[in-house]
Amino acid sequence: MRILVVTGAGISAESGIPTFRGTGGYWRNLDPTKLATQSAFDSDPEIVWQWYRERRDMIRRAQPNAAHRAVAQLSAGADEFFLLTQNVDDLHRRADWNGYRIPPDQLAQIHGDIFVSKCERGDFSQADPDGEDVGERSTAGVPRCPKCGARMRPGVVWFGEGLDPREVARVDNYVRARPCSAVIVVGTTVAFDYIVHWTRIATGRRGRLIEINPDDSFLEKLGAEWVKEPAASALPRIVDELLATRTTS
Ligand code: OAD
Repeated sequence: MRILVVTGAGISAESGIPTFRGTGGYWRNLDPTKLATQSAFDSDPEIVWQWYRERRDMIRRAQPNAAHRAVAQLSAGADEFFLLTQNVDDLHRRADWNGYRIPPDQLAQIHGDIFVSKCERGDFSQADPDGEDVGERSTAGVPRCPKCGARMRPGVVWFGEGLDPREVARVDNYVRARPCSAVIVVGTTVAFDYIVHWTRIATGRRGRLIEINPDDSFLEKLGAEWVKEPAASALPRIVDELLATRTTS
């Protein structure tokens, strides 16, 4: 059993974290897809930091839900497993299944990590300690790089930016090694071509492609089986079914 799981904001929706697009996607009448850009940061870095600080606080208070735990269960039970997440939250890393957590080498956060900040100019980056991020508690302020004094920015990928080549290589290595028996795509509008591309390669000619989304399907054209349900109810059942097939085959 060789598995790829691809997740987006929808898997964290039931933990109380708003998605980017669709209902509840707006923050103070601002469109998140416009805030997550270099041009938003250039024109108003304080409002962008404020948005990220609020999201950090919200994520710290949130707990992984049954869908995150089911992904950890699958990681524990599959022969080979990889999780490609577009989420910058840490709920996949915190989710455990009977004490088991997804090993770091089986997880790629392709859009970065919200708890990291990085220098806008140089290579410096840091994981901000819990609740002690530079300027975290202030409602305004743009943190400065301790090395060179340039502005620090959130360690995430913004629209129009390239992905981290090391993360790309990790995903490529997994999906190109050999096709998966099942690919599960959860809670994403699949807005980026590279996500479609990796999904297609991983599925190959014979793999099962399962898409979990209560509102829309984006992969039916690739032959996906669409499970029209919220992730926290659908995924634990699907994972149980997949693992049961494995034990009986
Ligand atoms: P979106 O906000 O675009 O899509 C979330 C999807 O989750 C929608 O299709 C919803 O129908 C679905 N959804 C909502 N509740 C759900 C639930 N309980 N269970 C399952 N699905 C549910 O989020 P992403 O596709 O992750 O990028 O967005 C992709 C990227 O665009 C993000 O990583 C971010 C964003 O802007 C960057 O910041 C670069």
